[in-house]
Amino acid sequence: MIEFPRDFTFGTATASHQIEGDNMYNDWWYWETTGRLRVKSGKACNHWELYREDIELMSRLGYDGYRFSIEWSRIFPQENLFDERALNRYVEIVELLRKHGITPVVTLHHFTSPKWFIDKGGWLREENISYFRRYVEAVVDSVKGVNYWVVFNEPNVYILQGYIMGAWPPGYRSLKIADKAAVNIVKAYKEAYGVLKGRGKVGVAQNLVSFKPASDGRRDLNACEKAREAYNHGFLKGVLQGEYVSLRGIRRVEESDMDFIGVNYYSGFVVKHVFNPLKMFMDVRPLDTGLWTTMGYCIYPRGIYEVMREVYDRYKRDIVITENGVAVKDDELRILSIVRHLQYVYKALSEGIPIHGYYYWSFMDNYEWDKGFEQRFGLIEVDYSTFERKPRRSAYIYSEIARTKRISD
Ligand code: NOJ
Repeated sequence: MIEFPRDFTFGTATASHQIEGDNMYNDWWYWETTGRLRVKSGKACNHWELYREDIELMSRLGYDGYRFSIEWSRIFPQENLFDERALNRYVEIVELLRKHGITPVVTLHHFTSPKWFIDKGGWLREENISYFRRYVEAVVDSVKGVNYWVVFNEPNVYILQGYIMGAWPPGYRSLKIADKAAVNIVKAYKEAYGVLKGRGKVGVAQNLVSFKPASDGRRDLNACEKAREAYNHGFLKGVLQGEYVSLRGIRRVEESDMDFIGVNYYSGFVVKHVFNPLKMFMDVRPLDTGLWTTMGYCIYPRGIYEVMREVYDRYKRDIVITENGVAVKDDELRILSIVRHLQYVYKALSEGIPIHGYYYWSFMDNYEWDKGFEQRFGLIEVDYSTFERKPRRSAYIYSEIARTKRISD
């Protein structure tokens, strides 16, 4: 049996576009109308209407933290249109959470941007950062009582999918354009940090992968190191050390700070050196542990420990596990995954890594971006025809863990 500290938070996480429904003023909604995707977000989980019930359910289950995102395009649906009612909804959500004793963790940018912002050049133009600043100021003036601000969610995934692979909006496929957007995001973070400092802890949620070399050969080791530096550390080094690292090299930027590093951990990948200039001489494949998820990668619990060691040893910042979870058909595998990951979280804690909480992705099934609604990440099952919520067995097991702060094997 293992026992976590009493003040260790066991929460869950979601994001606006994936659960709210009808987010029609953002770039993702527009992307969904261009015929590139099989499935549109539509009403998603209809959380925009059912938020009270969802928070009640969360509270009944005893989860004591909740990470969600504010949808920028709801607050500013047009460049000069400020929607106070939408902002008040988020104020109410934070108040409800606090009333139930649930720690609010608020993400300000979770992959989506207002369509008008992207039309103006979005992250590719440095002068557009002022629009983001204006949004952050509007939020922080009204939304009080937030413990952790996650300024950007997975900036590395956002850059990879939206600017290198072209799979997500705004759909670029260029390492050069990607660097430009990334550097502006590092700058936007610095602005936001200045605005938010002292009004809660401020950081980002970074997607961290446990990278393994395909062999002990020098070339595979180098390729693996390059992937790790660019993917795991590019953005973190930009903010914390003034050096943004990408596959194209290092760019100097002005450093700022993070009060905590949000860790989003899902899996391990194997890196092999290949002679393929387009792939930057590397081939990256899922690490095969035999426990496959429906996302096409495996469950590798030890990796959560490895990535926390990696970032803690380098940056010595507090850590919040802002996401970890699995999409599976068999809920028993979800339970196994949660327990195994938490055992490694415990190991990291007992070695002195300051980890403040664990947020399971996700509270409920939701819209998994280009993969639609088939991926079931939720502790709560969602019936998309009725919007009915049904807690799975994993929801009750996690509830037990959250209440007792204990795990028995
Ligand atoms: C990371 C992202 O932040 C979230 O939006 C996504 O749904 C989960 N991982 C699962 O892929």
